[in-house]
Amino acid sequence: MNPWFETVAEAQRRAKKRLPKSVYGALIAGSERGQTIEDNQRAFTELGFAPHVAGPIGERDQSTTVLGQQLSMPVLISPTGVQAVHPDGEVAVARAAAARGIAMGLSSFASKPIEEVIAANPATFFQLYWCGGKDEILERMRRARDAGAVGLILTLDWSFSHGRDWGSPVIPEKLDLRTMLKFAPQTLARPRWLATYMRSGSIPDLTAPNMAIGDAPAPGFFGAYGEWMGTPPPDWADVRWICEQWDGPVLLKGVMRVDDALRAVDAGVAGISVSNHGGNNLDGTPAAIRALPVLADAVGSQVEVLLDGGIRRGSDVVKAVALGARAVLIGRAYLWGLAANGQAGVENVLDILRGGIDSALLGLRKTRVTDLERSDVVVPAGFERALGLPETATAASAPVDHAASHA
Ligand SMILES: Cc1cc2nc3c(=O)[nH]c(=O)nc-3n(C[C@H](O)[C@H](O)[C@H](O)COP(=O)(O)O)c2cc1C
Repeated sequence: MNPWFETVAEAQRRAKKRLPKSVYGALIAGSERGQTIEDNQRAFTELGFAPHVAGPIGERDQSTTVLGQQLSMPVLISPTGVQAVHPDGEVAVARAAAARGIAMGLSSFASKPIEEVIAANPATFFQLYWCGGKDEILERMRRARDAGAVGLILTLDWSFSHGRDWGSPVIPEKLDLRTMLKFAPQTLARPRWLATYMRSGSIPDLTAPNMAIGDAPAPGFFGAYGEWMGTPPPDWADVRWICEQWDGPVLLKGVMRVDDALRAVDAGVAGISVSNHGGNNLDGTPAAIRALPVLADAVGSQVEVLLDGGIRRGSDVVKAVALGARAVLIGRAYLWGLAANGQAGVENVLDILRGGIDSALLGLRKTRVTDLERSDVVVPAGFERALGLPETATAASAPVDHAASHA
């Protein structure tokens, strides 16, 4: 079989064939009824384009900067724990991102230590959860700074919902003989996945090395998750404290409301990612792209506004940029690529996105991604969601039915 694939949908089909059922299920993730995870993708299908038929443009240019990093296209790797997908895990993803000139977001729950990931891609942002006491949080930040992280992604949208109507995968923490036998029917049915691990000489486990404190051994995923669950959520003073402690840009990930975006700016963040955690947080939250235009209007002149959730093709990136995002982060798209073909699979996904962005720029007769504007996109009436508009906000409280102004 040709290892090259032409769409992210094909990468997902291959991932499904290749991964043990429980690993594939962990990547599908989502919560409750799956309303948000579905809306993240459906919303992009509701948006259209308003292409030109002629007109001069120069050589197309996708490059941009995000939080001080030069990127070859407006795409970053969103932080995810990619345990058990591929033995090289986040290091393979970081190499692919570096090879394609984009930045990497490394999850707190990642399977590889931050030092190895930064060696593969110096443009790495470390993702932090509010987990443990302030001393532990500071210790993890110090390690990330010492390793050379170029910024912090602070993810705060999580509500510990653990039920899914389609069933949750059973995930063992360690593969000892007993669990290996228990999972044998799944893993033996996926010989190529098994062979990749056997060739690497490692066995999949769920250690979270970046959650280790000092010289203590790295906790297992479930231990770290338990610590997170037991930590009271932060308030806005805590967000400000994080920004003060980190000598560099902080991106707050998971913002969906205008009032939160305004408070985040006030707390000192350098950027926000409009996001619902890829539909894994509170089910019923609208698609991130529906909240983007209003949030970009509210704070886009003060901080960098990114988006993540539902990006599967280059045209999705272009729609998000046209509606006000400086760039997007991708999650499942690269996970499918990693599962399908390791580092080369992630590069394949990034090339698909780049090709799609290029086609859209050509169709829209735009030279640069930074030239994209809202009138390039057809937004149906009632598409947008204005969540958390403060009563006093004037500019942001304008009606959100912009349909009349779109071609
Ligand atoms: C399997 C999986 C694990 C994730 N783990 C994290 C994480 O550790 N930290 C985080 O900030 N976001 C995490 N996310 C959310 C992603 O960073 C991102 O917000 C989401 O995947 C974007 O949606 P998309 O998958 O449709 O691109 C995870 C998502 C998935 C699918």
